[in-house]
Amino acid sequence: MPEKVPEDIKKEIERLVKELNYHCYRYYVLDSPVISDEEYDRLYLRLKELEERYNYILPDSPTLRIGAPPLDKFEKVRHTEPMLSLDNAFSYDEVREFDMRVKRFLRSVEDIEYTVEPKYDGLAIELTYRNGLLYRASTRGDGYEGEDVTQNIRTIKSVPLKIEEVEAPEEIDIRGEVYMDIDEFEKLNKEREQGGEPLFANPRNAAAGSVRQLDPSITTARKLHLACYGIGAVRGKGFKTQWEFIKWLERARFPIPAVVKLVKGIDKVSNIISEIEEKRRIFLFETDGSVIKVNDFKLQRLLGVKTREPRWAVAYKFPAHQGTTKIKEIMPSVGRTGVITPIALLEPVRIGGVTVSRSTLHNWDEMQRKDIKVGDTVVVERAGEVIPHIITVIKDKRTGKEKPFPILERCPVCGSRVVRGEGEVAVRCIGLNCPSQVQERIRHFASRGAMDIEGLGEKNVELFYSKGLISHFVDIYRLKKEDLLGLPRFAEKSARNLIDAIGKSKKTTFARFLYALGIMHVGEYAAKLLAKNFERPEDLYNVRPERIIEIRQMGEKIARSVSNFFNDPENLKTLETLKSLGLKITNPDFEAKKREKLPLEGLTFVITGTLPRPRKEVEDMIESLGGHTSSLVSKGTDYLIVGEDPGSKLRKAEALGVKRISCDELLKITGRRSRQ
Ligand code: IVH
Repeated sequence: MPEKVPEDIKKEIERLVKELNYHCYRYYVLDSPVISDEEYDRLYLRLKELEERYNYILPDSPTLRIGAPPLDKFEKVRHTEPMLSLDNAFSYDEVREFDMRVKRFLRSVEDIEYTVEPKYDGLAIELTYRNGLLYRASTRGDGYEGEDVTQNIRTIKSVPLKIEEVEAPEEIDIRGEVYMDIDEFEKLNKEREQGGEPLFANPRNAAAGSVRQLDPSITTARKLHLACYGIGAVRGKGFKTQWEFIKWLERARFPIPAVVKLVKGIDKVSNIISEIEEKRRIFLFETDGSVIKVNDFKLQRLLGVKTREPRWAVAYKFPAHQGTTKIKEIMPSVGRTGVITPIALLEPVRIGGVTVSRSTLHNWDEMQRKDIKVGDTVVVERAGEVIPHIITVIKDKRTGKEKPFPILERCPVCGSRVVRGEGEVAVRCIGLNCPSQVQERIRHFASRGAMDIEGLGEKNVELFYSKGLISHFVDIYRLKKEDLLGLPRFAEKSARNLIDAIGKSKKTTFARFLYALGIMHVGEYAAKLLAKNFERPEDLYNVRPERIIEIRQMGEKIARSVSNFFNDPENLKTLETLKSLGLKITNPDFEAKKREKLPLEGLTFVITGTLPRPRKEVEDMIESLGGHTSSLVSKGTDYLIVGEDPGSKLRKAEALGVKRISCDELLKITGRRSRQ
């Protein structure tokens, strides 16, 4: 029997819930926390302990966000008011036409008030609150009937469990979009690619796939966000305008769109649309347009609905980052782990100012799902930094001459058998000496985040390989200047530079070295974790997977792969050879972990531009002082280190309000002297 709940405990629980919900709001909605993560965890654990001991759990307790058991199926939910879709406008002229229609319908000569905000590319959700508490969350479905996804939506930390700070209506349906940030989407897809799982085509599919999960623990693991923009049925309170409603949402601690403006007259609407389009590049989320809504709810009611779309709103769509072209050829490409990716060679097409001539087809499943054939006319999309991909085949353009691309039985490069792991979509060449894999492994070994050998990129690796100078990455350290002289692109100076760069790379960190080895599933992050826990390469020799799983955040897949690698006598021989060739490995990560409270502990740095010292040296120094370096500016970045000729990261940092410092300032903070 749980103990009876004493009054003071009830009070403490109530206080903790209130406090934790407030800090959640500060962190996830305002993006401006006022306490540390450790302090939050401490309060959370105290609440959890009291709740368990006294079996007293408030309906808005943050502990209710996680731990719900998987469902067999989703229950159906009927929306009290249908969830509508939007009419599109593809040009400013079409937006003007929308305004004229509104005025004509209302017989108004006066300028109309509109709200303007970005259109989020996610999944529409309705949140129902009863007496201020989150009662249910449902998907849009066909607009009339959706699915009950309450337990999944609860796991999204920016979704309020209770309406606070304002008087809550008896019942209210609040609509918004659940979405995933672009960075997060790319990270998720990378992980899925490594794990051989099917990829999400875009952040919207990733968000939808994460919400429509029967097991809420999967949703919890995905970083989802919410932006609220609409109202459905409401009982016990009236709103006069969209703007009043948005301001109410904001006070009630709901996340609202990143930009919402109230303007009068269509000219001002155009200004905001172009402002949003300009800002779009620095938004962390995907947006494909702006939504324009008549502000006055009375006018909205007068305007009404035309089939599925309201006459009082329109979505202006930004010019797409898509183009139409033809697939000339499909070419399989073998990566360093043997994964074979089909690549489409396209008739060059300009999209958003860039010429696109190839596009990834991801894998054979994906190719079959989209029914892609050689000779097809296709729609290609290029979004941000992501590799262009094919959205769809235009079947009407088929002539009958298109040819499907056969499933491979043999590796196109070395002729070895190809296999497909159980439950995987990836097809792999099993030939360990496959020239494509070998070259890719060498290229990876020398690449920037790995041994960082300047001048040893794809072209030179191919050249040296074809001349028989290198057939394994170990051979890089046997290269002599004389070997290079006389090769195309090499003269005295360039040969010396490369040999110097190779020499320099011998001094490296254990984390970089581990990553360079190209062990399956070991990316930069996993390599760093390993380096934090193992001091020297020898400490990993013949390691058991159990020993690696002990490390927090290390999964079984990585553990098995690392263990396999370090139990292979051939691999150990390779490591010994590298040592004898003069490799000097330090381990700042291990040192950093040993020392308590380092000056840069918990801080994330991003570098842009040319620094007065080699970038690698600065990165290693940051890491050795407990800091973390990343190549992407995000909300989580603490400092952007700005060198000469900074890139687009500077703009992004400015937009996000990330602190900017010079290399010298960094050295001052860390108490190191700047080199003159
Ligand atoms: S208003 C009738 N505002 O776009 C009003 N919708 O194409 C309908 N969407 O189903 C919703 N961002 O999922 C509105 N700021 C925004 C939006 C937005 C994204 C989605 C929503 C809707 C779809 C219609």
